[in-house]
Amino acid sequence: MPEAISIVEANEVHKTFSSKSRFGGAVRTVRAVRGISLSLGPDRTLALVGESGCGKSTLAGMLLGLSAPSEGMVRIKGATTSELSRQAIANAVQPVFQDPYVSLNPRKTVEQIVRLPLVAAGRGNRTEQIERVHEMLELVGLPADFSGRMPRQLSGGQRQRVSIARSLVAEPQALICDEPTSALDVSVQAQIINLLLELRGRLRLSYLLITHNLAVVDQLADETAVMYFGRLIEVGRTRDVLDRPLHPYTLMLRQAVLEPTVGQKLTAPLDAAVMPNPMQAHRGCPFRARCSRASSICEDMEPPLVEISGRRIACHNPLH
Ligand SMILES: Nc1ncnc2c1ncn2[C@@H]1O[C@H](COP(=O)(O)OP(=O)(O)OP(=O)(O)O)[C@@H](O)[C@H]1O
Ligand SMILES: [Mg+2]
Repeated sequence: MPEAISIVEANEVHKTFSSKSRFGGAVRTVRAVRGISLSLGPDRTLALVGESGCGKSTLAGMLLGLSAPSEGMVRIKGATTSELSRQAIANAVQPVFQDPYVSLNPRKTVEQIVRLPLVAAGRGNRTEQIERVHEMLELVGLPADFSGRMPRQLSGGQRQRVSIARSLVAEPQALICDEPTSALDVSVQAQIINLLLELRGRLRLSYLLITHNLAVVDQLADETAVMYFGRLIEVGRTRDVLDRPLHPYTLMLRQAVLEPTVGQKLTAPLDAAVMPNPMQAHRGCPFRARCSRASSICEDMEPPLVEISGRRIACHNPLH
């Protein structure tokens, strides 16, 4: 059977940010994403995990066509993003952001917010659009009479439901969810995850799910990609990756989940002593200073991402 065409696909993408300090001086560059290839097929959920600052949101921004790769290519349903209009990208893939408090326009009603993508796409007349907004509110579990409310009159969970309705109203095939529940109360997080699960089944959606919560990964994702310092270091079926990690960093993430900080950011903030500086060229494996398995080759050469027993892994001394 021919492989189904990907909805979103990254091909060796890099993103380097350059900035000059206000007082002149040298240009500072941050290599946020360093050569990532991945693809999201129809009806699939791919989780992207990794600690703060490793480049997840930067990658998501490129997959959504919100920022252009410095090198490499993003394709949406086979076409390069640089050749597609904003509207064509929006028709296929939509974002759900972390914080529904900042992502909803405070001066618009729920109806205006959810209707806007239809207006932008020129779909249907006013009556049809409003009917569709009401359908969407029902689909995300909000009463139709919420359509007249302003964002400030909603709870955090209700706001995230509105932003999901807005993302789905023009029928994209994929959602890129960047920590969709981490700004919400713990009690509400499970409701939003359950909503995403239910919508996936009803609408046959694909998700790229960025999260710090491995319990959510376990529940939702077919495949899991682990990112470290701008690169993918382990990619495979979620079952395999979580049950039997091959990369020592994946094992470390899994152990962090057993600690009482579930749902919090994974592991401690980046420690400058053990992480290479993203503004300088580095040598060897960027994880080696934290790795009990590091050997001399890890100092000399950054391990390439290679296929081992059905998954992709970047480690000179894998666990199995
Ligand atoms: N616009 C920008 N200009 C300069 N540097 C940036 C910019 N955006 C991100 N960075 C840097 O790129 C790196 C990756 O950031 P990114 O936000 O993608 O991480 P993340 O994995 O999403 O982290 P978190 O889990 O905290 O959301 C960081 O070093 C960050 O400081
Ligand atoms: Mg982020």
